Amino acid sequence: MKDLIKKLVEAWGPSGYEYHVRALIEEEVAELVDEMHVDPLGNLICRVGSGGLKVMISAHMDEIGVMTTFVEPESGFLRFTSIGGLLNTTLAGNRVHFEDGTIGVLAVPDQFGAARTSVPDLDAFYIDISTGDGDATIEPGSPAGLWRELEERGTRLIAKSMDDRIGCVVAIEAMRRLNKQTPNECYFVFSVQEEVGLRGARPAAYGINPDVGIALDVTGTGDEIKSRKMAVRLGGGAAIKVHDSGLVVPPAVRDWMISRAQADGIAYQLELLTGGTTDAAVIQIARAGVPSGCISIPCRYVHTTSETVDSRDVQACIDLLAGLLRNPATV
Ligand code: CO
Ligand code: ZN
Repeated sequence: MKDLIKKLVEAWGPSGYEYHVRALIEEEVAELVDEMHVDPLGNLICRVGSGGLKVMISAHMDEIGVMTTFVEPESGFLRFTSIGGLLNTTLAGNRVHFEDGTIGVLAVPDQFGAARTSVPDLDAFYIDISTGDGDATIEPGSPAGLWRELEERGTRLIAKSMDDRIGCVVAIEAMRRLNKQTPNECYFVFSVQEEVGLRGARPAAYGINPDVGIALDVTGTGDEIKSRKMAVRLGGGAAIKVHDSGLVVPPAVRDWMISRAQADGIAYQLELLTGGTTDAAVIQIARAGVPSGCISIPCRYVHTTSETVDSRDVQACIDLLAGLLRNPATV
């Protein structure tokens, strides 16, 4: 599984440009699905099983990043806007990765002056792609993702875009466990454009018309020093969502997950997230309404290049999802 995690977190795929990630996933799941197709927005929709309740499982392929807006004349400097929720405090000194392999350095003017004590607006930042011989080759309209390789420290895994490639890994590994055996009609959706407003999952849910929805995504933690009050911690198991800013999980869905975790002896914790939401927020309001919940992977430092998860939690999320889908859905 480590190889798959490394392959997916290091893949390039800012929102709207998920096709490289999608190709990797297609290759990974080809033998594990009954049927798959790519819908008009680029979501990869994989069916496993038929008959029974329709369960939609969604994990997003896209990552936050930047989009070049302007190339400063003959300087090797780019201006940019954000794709998704970039955190200005994390930018200076970090790197972005363009599709052609160009690495850019994010920088802010006067970093030892005013920028040291107050965080500048995004338009103060620039990207340095100078080569030393004047060959700046990035055009306006070029997207880039943040760049950092996967690192491992004990059971911790640290990378850019754990949000939400680790959710994609949970889906793929659960598909592997099922090996096409499920009493439900499962639709695994690898969605696009979550980071810019849940834009992929919404039409996917409309097309599938599921009976129940499950998003797989990262959630914050409250176990850092001086952190916010939040009960989720790394190593505490799969986080079963109760509530976030876009979703009140129906008690029947929450209890379906809790009772499966208890029956299978899977470590779990309840998640109450006060800021942020997931694909489940739009799945629940598709068509005439779809009861929806989330299995969340606890993650520190979300939307930085050092998103940190614990591999025991990842395993627990796979166990829980596979356990739910191996049995008839009861919501
Ligand atoms: Co995110
Ligand atoms: Zn996410």
